[in-house]
Amino acid sequence: MYDFIRKFDFFDWWDAGYADKAARNLKSIQDAWVLSELHSCEGLRIGEVGGGDSRLLRQLADKNACVNIDKFEGAGLGPQKVVEIPGVDVARAYMGDFDEVLADESFDVLFSVSVIEHVIDDRVSACFADMARILKPGGRMLHAIDVYLYDEWSLMPAELAGRIGLYRECAMGSGLRWECDPVIGDEVSFRCDIASNSDQQIAYSCKLVPELREQKAAAQNCSIKMILVKD
Ligand SMILES: C[S@@+](CC[C@H](N)C(=O)[O-])C[C@H]1O[C@@H](n2cnc3c(N)ncnc32)[C@H](O)[C@@H]1O
Repeated sequence: MYDFIRKFDFFDWWDAGYADKAARNLKSIQDAWVLSELHSCEGLRIGEVGGGDSRLLRQLADKNACVNIDKFEGAGLGPQKVVEIPGVDVARAYMGDFDEVLADESFDVLFSVSVIEHVIDDRVSACFADMARILKPGGRMLHAIDVYLYDEWSLMPAELAGRIGLYRECAMGSGLRWECDPVIGDEVSFRCDIASNSDQQIAYSCKLVPELREQKAAAQNCSIKMILVKD
Protein backbone atom coordinates (compact mmCIF):
# COMPACT_ATOMS: atom_id res chain seq x y z
CA MET A 1 0.00 0.00 0.00
CA TYR A 2 1.25 3.46 -0.92
CA ASP A 3 -1.65 5.89 -0.72
CA PHE A 4 -2.84 8.92 1.21
CA ILE A 5 -5.05 8.58 4.27
CA ARG A 6 -8.52 9.44 2.96
CA LYS A 7 -11.40 11.05 4.81
CA PHE A 8 -13.87 8.26 4.09
CA ASP A 9 -11.51 5.79 5.79
CA PHE A 10 -11.06 8.09 8.76
CA PHE A 11 -14.82 8.43 9.19
CA ASP A 12 -15.04 4.62 9.37
CA TRP A 13 -12.21 4.44 11.93
CA TRP A 14 -13.94 7.16 13.96
CA ASP A 15 -17.17 5.15 13.97
CA ALA A 16 -15.30 1.96 14.89
CA GLY A 17 -13.74 3.63 17.94
CA TYR A 18 -10.10 3.81 16.76
CA ALA A 19 -9.90 7.61 16.87
CA ASP A 20 -9.21 9.87 19.82
CA LYS A 21 -12.40 11.91 19.55
CA ALA A 22 -11.01 14.80 21.59
CA ALA A 23 -8.06 15.37 19.24
CA ARG A 24 -8.14 17.76 16.28
CA ASN A 25 -4.89 17.01 14.51
CA LEU A 26 -3.37 14.87 11.76
CA LYS A 27 -1.48 12.72 14.29
CA SER A 28 -4.78 11.46 15.70
CA ILE A 29 -5.90 10.54 12.16
CA GLN A 30 -2.58 8.73 11.58
CA ASP A 31 -2.95 6.96 14.94
CA ALA A 32 -6.48 5.86 14.01
CA TRP A 33 -5.16 4.32 10.79
CA VAL A 34 -2.42 2.36 12.61
CA LEU A 35 -4.86 1.22 15.29
CA SER A 36 -7.38 0.11 12.65
CA GLU A 37 -4.63 -2.14 11.25
CA LEU A 38 -3.17 -3.42 14.54
CA HIS A 39 -6.04 -3.49 17.06
CA SER A 40 -6.46 -7.27 16.81
CA CYS A 41 -2.74 -8.11 17.25
CA GLU A 42 -2.01 -10.46 20.14
CA GLY A 43 1.21 -12.15 21.23
CA LEU A 44 3.31 -10.31 18.65
CA ARG A 45 6.59 -8.43 18.99
CA ILE A 46 5.78 -4.91 17.83
CA GLY A 47 8.30 -2.10 17.38
CA GLU A 48 7.38 1.55 17.00
CA VAL A 49 10.10 3.41 15.14
CA GLY A 50 10.58 6.88 16.64
CA GLY A 51 7.72 6.38 19.06
CA GLY A 52 8.74 9.27 21.31
CA ASP A 53 5.99 9.67 23.92
CA SER A 54 4.04 6.94 22.15
CA ARG A 55 0.29 7.01 22.25
CA LEU A 56 -0.16 3.73 20.36
CA LEU A 57 2.24 1.47 22.28
CA ARG A 58 0.25 2.30 25.43
CA GLN A 59 -2.74 0.66 23.71
CA LEU A 60 -0.90 -2.30 22.18
CA ALA A 61 1.32 -3.29 25.13
CA ASP A 62 -1.25 -5.24 27.14
CA LYS A 63 -1.50 -7.98 24.49
CA ASN A 64 1.90 -7.74 22.74
CA ALA A 65 5.62 -7.39 23.49
CA CYS A 66 6.26 -3.77 22.51
CA VAL A 67 9.50 -1.88 21.92
CA ASN A 68 9.94 1.87 21.39
CA ILE A 69 12.89 2.29 19.00
CA ASP A 70 14.11 5.86 19.49
CA LYS A 71 17.20 7.66 20.73
CA PHE A 72 15.16 10.37 22.45
CA GLU A 73 17.50 13.16 21.36
CA GLY A 74 14.78 15.65 20.44
CA ALA A 75 14.94 15.05 16.66
CA GLY A 76 11.83 16.33 14.85
CA LEU A 77 10.69 18.02 18.09
CA GLY A 78 10.41 14.58 19.74
CA PRO A 79 11.24 14.05 23.44
CA GLN A 80 14.78 14.79 24.65
CA LYS A 81 14.83 12.11 27.32
CA VAL A 82 13.56 8.54 27.52
CA VAL A 83 9.82 8.21 28.04
CA GLU A 84 9.04 5.20 30.23
CA ILE A 85 5.75 3.52 29.32
CA PRO A 86 4.52 0.59 31.46
CA GLY A 87 5.07 -2.72 29.66
CA VAL A 88 7.07 -1.13 26.81
CA ASP A 89 10.80 -1.78 26.32
CA VAL A 90 13.06 0.92 24.92
CA ALA A 91 15.75 0.35 22.29
CA ARG A 92 17.91 3.47 22.09
CA ALA A 93 18.70 3.20 18.40
CA TYR A 94 17.97 4.91 15.11
CA MET A 95 16.85 2.87 12.16
CA GLY A 96 19.48 3.22 9.47
CA ASP A 97 22.37 2.68 11.90
CA PHE A 98 22.10 -1.15 11.75
CA ASP A 99 22.58 -1.12 15.52
CA GLU A 100 23.26 -4.58 17.00
CA VAL A 101 20.94 -3.79 19.89
CA LEU A 102 18.19 -4.75 17.42
CA ALA A 103 18.57 -8.34 16.25
CA ASP A 104 17.91 -9.49 12.68
CA GLU A 105 14.38 -10.82 12.05
CA SER A 106 13.14 -10.10 15.58
CA PHE A 107 9.88 -8.13 15.01
CA ASP A 108 6.50 -9.27 13.70
CA VAL A 109 5.35 -5.69 13.14
CA LEU A 110 7.07 -2.31 12.80
CA PHE A 111 5.25 0.99 12.49
CA SER A 112 5.91 4.72 12.64
CA VAL A 113 3.90 7.93 12.84
CA SER A 114 5.45 11.23 11.69
CA VAL A 115 9.01 9.89 11.65
CA ILE A 116 10.12 8.98 8.11
CA GLU A 117 9.72 12.58 6.88
CA HIS A 118 12.38 13.60 9.43
CA VAL A 119 14.97 11.20 7.98
CA ILE A 120 17.33 13.11 5.67
CA ASP A 121 17.37 12.14 1.97
CA ASP A 122 20.71 10.33 2.16
CA ARG A 123 19.54 8.16 5.04
CA VAL A 124 16.08 7.08 3.85
CA SER A 125 17.39 4.05 1.93
CA ALA A 126 19.44 2.83 4.93
CA CYS A 127 16.46 3.41 7.21
CA PHE A 128 14.23 1.12 5.09
CA ALA A 129 16.98 -1.50 4.69
CA ASP A 130 17.52 -1.57 8.47
CA MET A 131 13.79 -1.93 9.17
CA ALA A 132 13.61 -4.76 6.61
CA ARG A 133 16.55 -6.41 8.41
CA ILE A 134 14.85 -6.56 11.82
CA LEU A 135 11.47 -7.68 10.47
CA LYS A 136 10.68 -11.42 10.67
CA PRO A 137 9.68 -13.26 7.48
CA GLY A 138 5.92 -12.83 7.27
CA GLY A 139 6.17 -9.53 9.15
CA ARG A 140 4.51 -6.24 8.19
CA MET A 141 5.56 -2.65 8.47
CA LEU A 142 3.32 0.38 8.39
CA HIS A 143 4.36 4.02 8.12
CA ALA A 144 2.28 7.18 8.35
CA ILE A 145 4.42 9.85 6.67
CA ASP A 146 3.58 13.57 6.72
CA VAL A 147 3.59 15.38 3.37
CA TYR A 148 2.52 18.82 2.15
CA LEU A 149 0.27 18.75 -0.90
CA TYR A 150 -0.36 21.80 -3.10
CA ASP A 151 -3.21 22.80 -5.44
CA GLU A 152 -1.07 21.69 -8.39
CA TRP A 153 1.94 19.37 -8.62
CA SER A 154 3.88 22.17 -10.37
CA LEU A 155 3.60 24.34 -7.24
CA MET A 156 5.28 21.74 -5.01
CA PRO A 157 8.87 22.70 -4.10
CA ALA A 158 11.35 20.29 -5.70
CA GLU A 159 12.69 18.95 -2.40
CA LEU A 160 9.17 18.02 -1.25
CA ALA A 161 8.18 16.59 -4.62
CA GLY A 162 11.31 14.45 -4.66
CA ARG A 163 10.43 12.82 -1.34
CA ILE A 164 7.24 11.25 -2.72
CA GLY A 165 9.28 9.22 -5.23
CA LEU A 166 12.15 8.68 -2.78
CA TYR A 167 9.93 6.89 -0.25
CA ARG A 168 8.54 4.64 -2.97
CA GLU A 169 11.99 3.81 -4.40
CA CYS A 170 13.54 3.14 -0.98
CA ALA A 171 10.60 0.98 0.06
CA MET A 172 10.87 -1.02 -3.16
CA GLY A 173 14.66 -1.27 -2.75
CA SER A 174 14.35 -2.70 0.77
CA GLY A 175 13.51 -6.18 -0.52
CA LEU A 176 9.99 -6.04 0.94
CA ARG A 177 6.83 -6.10 -1.16
CA TRP A 178 3.80 -3.83 -1.15
CA GLU A 179 0.83 -5.27 0.73
CA CYS A 180 -1.31 -3.94 -2.12
CA ASP A 181 -0.39 -2.02 -5.24
CA PRO A 182 0.83 1.59 -4.82
CA VAL A 183 -1.76 4.24 -5.66
CA ILE A 184 0.37 7.40 -5.39
CA GLY A 185 1.80 8.27 -8.79
CA ASP A 186 4.69 10.51 -9.77
CA GLU A 187 2.73 13.77 -9.75
CA VAL A 188 0.30 14.42 -6.90
CA SER A 189 -1.70 17.37 -5.67
CA PHE A 190 -4.25 17.95 -2.91
CA ARG A 191 -7.69 16.43 -3.46
CA CYS A 192 -10.67 17.05 -1.22
CA ASP A 193 -11.01 13.39 -0.21
CA ILE A 194 -7.54 13.38 1.38
CA ALA A 195 -7.50 13.80 5.18
CA SER A 196 -5.48 16.80 6.38
CA ASN A 197 -4.42 18.64 9.49
CA SER A 198 -6.70 21.28 11.03
CA ASP A 199 -5.92 24.97 10.44
CA GLN A 200 -5.91 25.41 14.22
CA GLN A 201 -3.14 22.81 14.60
CA ILE A 202 -1.21 24.31 11.69
CA ALA A 203 -1.43 27.82 13.18
CA TYR A 204 -0.10 26.39 16.46
CA SER A 205 2.76 24.56 14.71
CA CYS A 206 3.80 27.78 12.90
CA LYS A 207 4.93 29.03 16.31
CA LEU A 208 7.17 25.96 16.71
CA VAL A 209 8.65 26.09 13.18
CA PRO A 210 8.16 29.67 11.94
CA GLU A 211 10.38 29.06 8.89
CA LEU A 212 7.67 26.77 7.48
CA ARG A 213 4.86 29.33 7.88
CA GLU A 214 4.64 30.10 4.14
CA GLN A 215 4.60 26.40 3.19
CA LYS A 216 1.97 25.63 5.81
CA ALA A 217 -0.26 28.46 4.52
CA ALA A 218 0.04 27.42 0.86
CA ALA A 219 -0.33 23.65 1.21
CA GLN A 220 -2.34 21.00 3.07
CA ASN A 221 -0.55 18.82 5.64
CA CYS A 222 -1.61 15.25 4.74
CA SER A 223 -0.33 11.73 5.41
CA ILE A 224 0.94 8.92 3.24
CA LYS A 225 -0.02 5.44 4.43
CA MET A 226 2.48 2.76 3.49
CA ILE A 227 2.35 -0.97 4.19
CA LEU A 228 5.13 -3.40 3.24
CA VAL A 229 5.37 -7.13 3.86
CA LYS A 230 8.42 -9.39 4.24
CA ASP A 231 8.01 -12.75 2.52
C1 LIG B 1 8.05 14.12 15.14
S1 LIG B 1 8.62 12.98 16.34
C2 LIG B 1 7.28 11.85 16.33
C3 LIG B 1 7.16 11.10 17.61
C4 LIG B 1 5.96 10.15 17.66
N1 LIG B 1 6.04 9.15 16.60
C5 LIG B 1 4.67 10.90 17.59
O1 LIG B 1 3.91 10.72 16.61
O2 LIG B 1 4.38 11.66 18.51
C6 LIG B 1 9.89 12.09 15.46
C7 LIG B 1 10.56 11.02 16.31
O3 LIG B 1 11.31 10.17 15.44
C8 LIG B 1 12.55 9.86 16.04
N2 LIG B 1 13.44 9.47 14.93
C9 LIG B 1 13.92 10.25 13.95
N3 LIG B 1 14.67 9.52 13.11
C10 LIG B 1 14.63 8.24 13.57
C11 LIG B 1 15.21 7.01 13.13
N4 LIG B 1 15.99 6.94 12.04
N5 LIG B 1 14.96 5.89 13.84
C12 LIG B 1 14.17 5.93 14.95
N6 LIG B 1 13.61 7.08 15.40
C13 LIG B 1 13.85 8.21 14.73
C14 LIG B 1 12.91 11.11 16.81
O4 LIG B 1 13.84 10.84 17.83
C15 LIG B 1 11.54 11.56 17.34
O5 LIG B 1 11.24 11.03 18.60
